Amino acid sequence: METTSRAELNEKLAAILEICRKMNSERELGALLDLIAREATNLLACDRASIFLLDAERNELWSKVALGSDEILRFDAGMGIVGAAVSTGRTVNVRDAYSDPRFYGGIDGRTGYRTHNLLAVAMHNQQGDIIGAFETLNKAAGPFNGRDEECLLALASHAATAIETAQLIAELRRSQNELAQQNAHLWREVESRYSSHGIIGTGQKIQQIVRLVERIRDSVVNVLITGESGTGKEMAAKAIHYTSPRARRPFVALNCAALPEPLVESELFGIERGVATGVQPRVGQFQKADGGTLFLDEIGDLSLTAQAKILRVLQERVVERVGGRTSIPVDVRLLAATNKDLESEIVKGAFREDLYYRIKVLHIHMPPLREIREEIPLLANHFLKEYCGETGRGGMEFGPGVMRRLVSAPWPGNVRQLRNEVMRLAACAPDRLITEDDLMAGLPEPSRIEIRPAPPAKVQSLKDAVEALERRMIAEALEDMRFNQQQAARRLGLSRQGLINKMKRYAIAG
Ligand SMILES: Nc1ncnc2c1ncn2[C@@H]1O[C@H](COP(=O)(O)OP(=O)(O)OP(=O)(O)O)[C@@H](O)[C@H]1O
Ligand SMILES: [Mg+2]
Repeated sequence: METTSRAELNEKLAAILEICRKMNSERELGALLDLIAREATNLLACDRASIFLLDAERNELWSKVALGSDEILRFDAGMGIVGAAVSTGRTVNVRDAYSDPRFYGGIDGRTGYRTHNLLAVAMHNQQGDIIGAFETLNKAAGPFNGRDEECLLALASHAATAIETAQLIAELRRSQNELAQQNAHLWREVESRYSSHGIIGTGQKIQQIVRLVERIRDSVVNVLITGESGTGKEMAAKAIHYTSPRARRPFVALNCAALPEPLVESELFGIERGVATGVQPRVGQFQKADGGTLFLDEIGDLSLTAQAKILRVLQERVVERVGGRTSIPVDVRLLAATNKDLESEIVKGAFREDLYYRIKVLHIHMPPLREIREEIPLLANHFLKEYCGETGRGGMEFGPGVMRRLVSAPWPGNVRQLRNEVMRLAACAPDRLITEDDLMAGLPEPSRIEIRPAPPAKVQSLKDAVEALERRMIAEALEDMRFNQQQAARRLGLSRQGLINKMKRYAIAG
């Protein structure tokens, strides 16, 4: 008798180990619950087994109605034999279901099944909290015994761990899916914002640029973008990046004019730990842009030393950090912008010719706004719509006469100035209609440009006239803003650096 039961015990233990092995390889909750129920009926030689999981928020127990079905049974967590096991944490062994007052016959009623004997144990997780109950029904050879109770308890403790893992994995998958969806949505937003169609304009000059951006979408050529301040150079660079296969890798923009000479190298290539006391190690912009695009803005302002170093990276495709000994490979597409005439910089010896040809494999020139006045109505309306979208103020419009004035203004700060002006007009307009009265004092009236005659004895070229006007507007803006460069730049629609560059060019003292 002793040996039989020991042999039987060993057999059961081996069976439980085998079930654990199977449970550990099933990660999907539904399939796992089916597997555990099936194995439990074999192990305990009974007719059915069910797992009831506790929904703590609603204080309910739930279970699948039958193996393989997706129908869910739910009831109050205090109800029935299972409820008794869950609320006490104890094993409940019932010889005759219908004579036990705790038995709830409603489930038999719903499933059409007839319960005779049953055994229920609470399931605990690793922290000792009850997560549900494991129930077996109708042992063929009479009521469940003490050995059955031990077996079910052992199985329940392993099942609880496997179930928690599967629930955790399901939760992770759900949030991963959610994040992936959000991410895809954000990418669609970015892509539509910076796709080549983010460049507005129906005229020939802008359309040529749009077509070029589309044509080079699959290539990695370096592109030089030229144009005055505020003409959309950075916007074009982003359009090139976000329509290319590199779109999901970083777009890193670096303003070379804002870099003090001693910092250029560490900013571009990074700095190694321990170079000097107090110096923090840093990843350079080339490495940050790895796999993506590096946009070097105002490249004409780089020193000759910095130019030589960039040329080396473009030739050898590796960077070396300041104080580092190893070469780090980088895969970077370079886009560069400038409002300087690099060819005359080359003649002056201020820009390297070899670097010029490396960065200017393709050239895009952004026209100044005064040369594409036909785009002004479209642009102005676009910016007004953008303002309405951002602020939730609906249906604003330009009143009669306003557009004519916008189209004829000189716009030294180009599209950026137009955008700033539209935003300002929209914000200040008391009504949804923007009237001529709302136009800013700083927006030169056509009469101020057209009527004021050129100096009589001298015939001015258009370029000279534009320069004279620019010089005057800059001086006026500075004066009006009490020489606050930030505010003057904003008024003119220039970046602060753009204003400083122009002040240098016209020798205007700040
Ligand atoms: N064709 C265009 N369509 C739509 N928006 C434009 C267009 N051109 C310029 N813009 C907008 O004008 C503003 C200025 O553009 P951006 O910053 O690209 O100019 P930039 O040439 O880089 O100027 P800077 O030389 O001062 O740095 C941005 O808000 C940009 O979106
Ligand atoms: Mg720019």
